[in-house]
Amino acid sequence: MSSKSKKDLVSVLDFSKEEIADLFKETARLKKKGKPGGAKSLTGKTLALIMQKPSTRTTVSFAAGMAQLGGTPLILNSQDLQIKRGESLPDTARTLSHYVDGIMIRANKHEDIAEMARHANIPVINGLSDKEHPCQILSDIFTIFEMRGGRKLDDIKGFKIAYVGDGNNVAHSLILVAALLGMEISVGSPKNYEPEKEFVQKGLELARMNGGKIYVDEDPAKAASGADVIYTDVWASMGKEEEGENRKQIFRPYQVNAALLAQAKPTVKIMHCLPAHRGEEITDEMIEGPKSVIFEQAGNRLHLQKAILLKLLS
Ligand code: CP
Ligand code: NVA
Repeated sequence: MSSKSKKDLVSVLDFSKEEIADLFKETARLKKKGKPGGAKSLTGKTLALIMQKPSTRTTVSFAAGMAQLGGTPLILNSQDLQIKRGESLPDTARTLSHYVDGIMIRANKHEDIAEMARHANIPVINGLSDKEHPCQILSDIFTIFEMRGGRKLDDIKGFKIAYVGDGNNVAHSLILVAALLGMEISVGSPKNYEPEKEFVQKGLELARMNGGKIYVDEDPAKAASGADVIYTDVWASMGKEEEGENRKQIFRPYQVNAALLAQAKPTVKIMHCLPAHRGEEITDEMIEGPKSVIFEQAGNRLHLQKAILLKLLS
């Protein structure tokens, strides 16, 4: 049912290494131009943003990015659509394919996004699911690429990311793309909260082919040892709020703080996709300290999202 010529971004692996290299070139070009973003290449195009969960960065960077490129964003809370009354995502996708030029969806279930992509004749972009957060991670790897001078993608090979905390959607996309790009990723997660096996297996396979390394361990200090970046995310993702109190006990040793930082390289940078729960997975001191690139990371979402829109909707 889907048009052969369209391209989706459902998993971070929908982009090849070469496509990521091109995407980063375009992101750097757009970043230089700042918010106005240069040519209005998407004039006359419309992007539907379907939101099943709250969002600040993803919604606003895509909506503002679309407007800055001359296009029109439609922000649609799924509660206001017939989806709320049971209309299926495939039927929604087929209908919207007649009206708009692309769909960005933040959904509860990853499979729903994949199904929507199969039924839409227009590009479908995953703006976060329970399994992956590809736009976030592409943007974060761009931030790392800039740290390494922003010249060749191969310059980030061997860069060590320590991901400390919940083995969630962010961790999954990070594992996949780090492995694809030959980076080293060391995950420190409590027992039963590790990244899902399927993602670790796929990551190991990719790491073998691309010269990357993946370690998963329960020890946060071991994960952080010698790291170039320490990355963390909330302990209870959207949809897991009722487990929040229990998770606070389990994850306490996984807080990103001064003691954990001491395990890493002296040049280490701290990353977090935001929103942060200050005092839980990360201290105020770490967010506001000189090692933090957290708000640069958030800023890069705009430029990277614009590069994605140009690639998929032009
Ligand atoms: N990091 C991120 O995706 O933020 P939002 O949930 O605010 O979109
Ligand atoms: N893991 C978090 C990411 C938020 C951007 C969540 O899914 O809630």
